[in-house]
Amino acid sequence: MKTKILMVCLGNICRSPLAEGILTALVNPDNVVVDSAGTGNWHVGDKPDKRSIAVALKNGIDISRQRGKQFSTYDYEIYDHIFVMDAANYSDVIKLATSNTEKAKVSMILDEIFPGEAVDVPDPYYGGNTGFDNVYAMLHTACEKIVSGLAI
Ligand code: 4NP
Repeated sequence: MKTKILMVCLGNICRSPLAEGILTALVNPDNVVVDSAGTGNWHVGDKPDKRSIAVALKNGIDISRQRGKQFSTYDYEIYDHIFVMDAANYSDVIKLATSNTEKAKVSMILDEIFPGEAVDVPDPYYGGNTGFDNVYAMLHTACEKIVSGLAI
């Protein structure tokens, strides 16, 4: 059985598509499936933000074929781990859990680097390219930690 991992942010066009692309590039696809979703529905069917596509490409990763999806309660049945980008995503996702087993699947992605500190991945949507570079660097470090923690 493959380990299934879902990355979640608000719009599913800036942060979680990057997290999906980075983790996908770091794992063996025979063992791990990675996807992403947003808690909001504004960008369902959309490509990632141009700035996320650009920063990924600068680092050798093509995320341009991803399309926006909205997180749903059904995702709890599919995925083993759900990594959220910030505290607002955490409360929106946890609200849809129907058991403690489901709740235990959810964690903030930067807990991988700063355990228990509830550090947010800042939303870069309203900023410039530097914000996207920062987000990329944080997510890359976090994804390396996720890979080293996977028992595969
Ligand atoms: P993301 O950023 O959650 O990292 O994808 C956002 C992108 C778009 C919106 C909000 C956050 N929006 O409100 O459209």
